[in-house]
Parts: sequence; C-alpha cells; structure tokens
Amino acid sequence: MRVVELVNGFGVENLRLTERALPTVKAGEVLVQMGAASLNYRDLLMVRGLYNPRQRLPLVPCSDGAGTVVAVGDGVRDVTVGTRVIPAFAQAWLSGEPTRELLSSTLGGPLDGTLCEHRVFDPRALVQVPEHLSLIEAATLPCAALTAWRALFDHGGLLPGQWVLVQGSGGVSVFALQFAKQIGARVIATTSSAEKAARLRELGAEVVINYRDEPQWSKRVREVTDSRGVDVIVEVGGAGTLEQSLRAIKVGGRVSLIGVLSGGSGEVNLLPVLMQDVRVQGVIVGSRAHLQQMCDALAAWRLHPVVDRVFAMEDIAEAMTHMASGAHLGKVAVEIAS
Ligand SMILES: NC(=O)c1ccc[n+]([C@@H]2O[C@H](COP(=O)([O-])OP(=O)(O)OC[C@H]3O[C@@H](n4cnc5c(N)ncnc54)[C@H](OP(=O)(O)O)[C@@H]3O)[C@@H](O)[C@H]2O)c1
Repeated sequence: MRVVELVNGFGVENLRLTERALPTVKAGEVLVQMGAASLNYRDLLMVRGLYNPRQRLPLVPCSDGAGTVVAVGDGVRDVTVGTRVIPAFAQAWLSGEPTRELLSSTLGGPLDGTLCEHRVFDPRALVQVPEHLSLIEAATLPCAALTAWRALFDHGGLLPGQWVLVQGSGGVSVFALQFAKQIGARVIATTSSAEKAARLRELGAEVVINYRDEPQWSKRVREVTDSRGVDVIVEVGGAGTLEQSLRAIKVGGRVSLIGVLSGGSGEVNLLPVLMQDVRVQGVIVGSRAHLQQMCDALAAWRLHPVVDRVFAMEDIAEAMTHMASGAHLGKVAVEIAS
C-alpha cells in the first residue's frame, strides 16, 4: 500500500510517497481503507520538527482522516465492514478528562497518522461519518473542528445572541464561525485580506476586521458591541494577539486559547484578566466522546466543512507549502482513494 512518510530528517523536502506492507488485522482491531486526510497547522510543525524535535522517524504524518472499514478482527462487534469512520485525534482519549498519557496517543505523531492507504485502528477510537458528508469533508473534523467546538461550547459556554470573535480564516477559525452561526451567535472575524474578508462575510460573519489595516482591532470590537466587548474569543494568534483579545473581551468573558500563530511567548499585561474576571482557558482538541457529540450536531445541522483545496497524495509537499503560505481559507485536504 502507498503511504506518505517523513524520512531522513525533518522538513517538507523529506516527505516521500513510499510502499509499506498491508497491515494485518488482529483480534479487537479493524482495518480501514483511508479515503482522505486533512492538514492542520500541527502537521506542518510536526514535519518541520518544531512540534516535537524528538519525534521518531519515519513518521506517517497527519492526525486527521476518514475512511471505510474493510476488515474486522475477531471479537469486534460494534463496527462492520463498509462503515465509514473517522479516527479520534488522541486514540486512547475516549472520554472524560485528558491526561498526559492519553494525550500521547495522537495520530500523526507520536503515532503514525492518516496519510496512508490502509491503517489498523482500535474500533473504540472511531466515530461514524455523518451521512451527509463525503470522506474528504469528514477528514477535516478530528482536530480543527473539534477544537473549535470545544472552544465555543465546552469552554466558551457560547449562547445564541452572544458575540464571538474568531481570528484569521484557517481551519479552526472557519469551523468556529460556522458553528457559532448555527446556534445564532454573532461573529466578528479578523483576517489579512479583502478577498478573505468577503468570503468570511458570505459565511455569516457580521463584522470582519483586516488586522493588517487595523492592528488595534479591539477598538472596533468595542465599537460594534456598544463598548461591552465580545463574550467568547477563539484565540489562535497567541502571544502577538492576546493583548488585543484582552481589550476586546467583555467583563466576565472567556478566551479559549488554542494556537500560537503569532508566537508562544511575549509580554502580556495580565491585569485585565483579574480586574475583569476574564477566564483564559487552554483547549486541547477533544476526546472521542466529544467527537461523537460534534458529529451528531453536524448531522442535525447538515453542515458542510469549508474545504479550500484537495491535493493528491503525491503532491503532499505542495499541499503543506500551500498551508504554510496562509493562502487557504478553511481546510486543506488530501485525497487518498476516490
Ligand atoms: N490547541 C489545540 O488543540 C489546537 C487544535 C488545532 C489547532 N491549533 C492551533 O491553532 C492555530 C490555528 O490552527 P489551524 O489549523 O486553524 O491553522 P491554519 O488553517 O493554518 O490557519 C492559519 C490562518 O490563521 C491566520 N493567521 C496567521 N497568523 C495570524 C496572526 N498572527 N494573527 C491572526 N491570525 C493569523 C491566517 O488567516 P488570515 O489570512 O485570514 O488572517 C492563516 O491563514 C495553530 O497555531 C494550531 O497549531 C491548536
């Protein structure tokens, strides 16, 4: 079977399309023919050796994918051949609170990921693909969508009518925008270009701010929310944007801290956090139970992910470079089998 592997060291230039033997299914396992994978910023960091410099190679990249069960091992009862499935981001985190151990069971590093034609999974770590979604669409869900879901609803406690701010137009933020609109929340989005701004408005953002033109974007957030500030912020910028976020959040609001696109460390004035009763909460994707909950919602809403571009497996380097350029809006996917 064909797999994409990171070999001979880190770097996009070390990604190779190679052959591995078809895995055999043992008792209690299922064999999945992967239909698609999708890229997350994490995958790029992993390939560049920045996420975990001690990651063992070769590695099959990508945490996210979807496929069809083609064989089941002895003792497997709940999953049958032909079922379309999505593997959970952290294979051992089935439900409940995360632990260090559970979080070290993630696909695409340290475990081999989804950029392969076949992969064996523990059926307990799989969720059925919502019927209305293609495998390419389903492959976008495990990391970015689930992180957005938990940032808004688990940690953010977002309610209809409330204001949410999403930063940029990448995978996590576009899902957050879509989910917020589904429940009748109001969305302010920040982005880097007029073209992306138009698309974000089409997706339902009430207000879009170009952060290059308006680096002090919190002022506009205050204006459009009658000086109150927003209820929830999906913080993907990190150190470079947190100060603006803490000026844009309402008293008692919630900042879901997800990413560090603008840096992981720096000087931040913490006074607004305590003086305004702000909750800053880190978010690390979610469990298999969270993934099921989110897929049920997507099925009820008949919501389709925004897929920016689909690449072939052999064009993985180009796909990664496209993602790194920030030219995309929504998710970048890789088709494995049509
Ligand atoms: N904690 C978790 O569990 C978790 C899960 C998923 C992702 N993440 C993290 O969340 C971040 C976003 O991930 P993603 O997969 O959505 O990435 P992505 O699809 O690559 O999105 C990147 C987009 O963010 C915007 N952006 C870039 N730099 C920015 C900045 N300085 N300030 C504001 N926006 C900026 C750009 O959009 P515009 O051109 O529109 O501005 C860019 O296209 C990454 O840091 C990732 O590692 C964390």
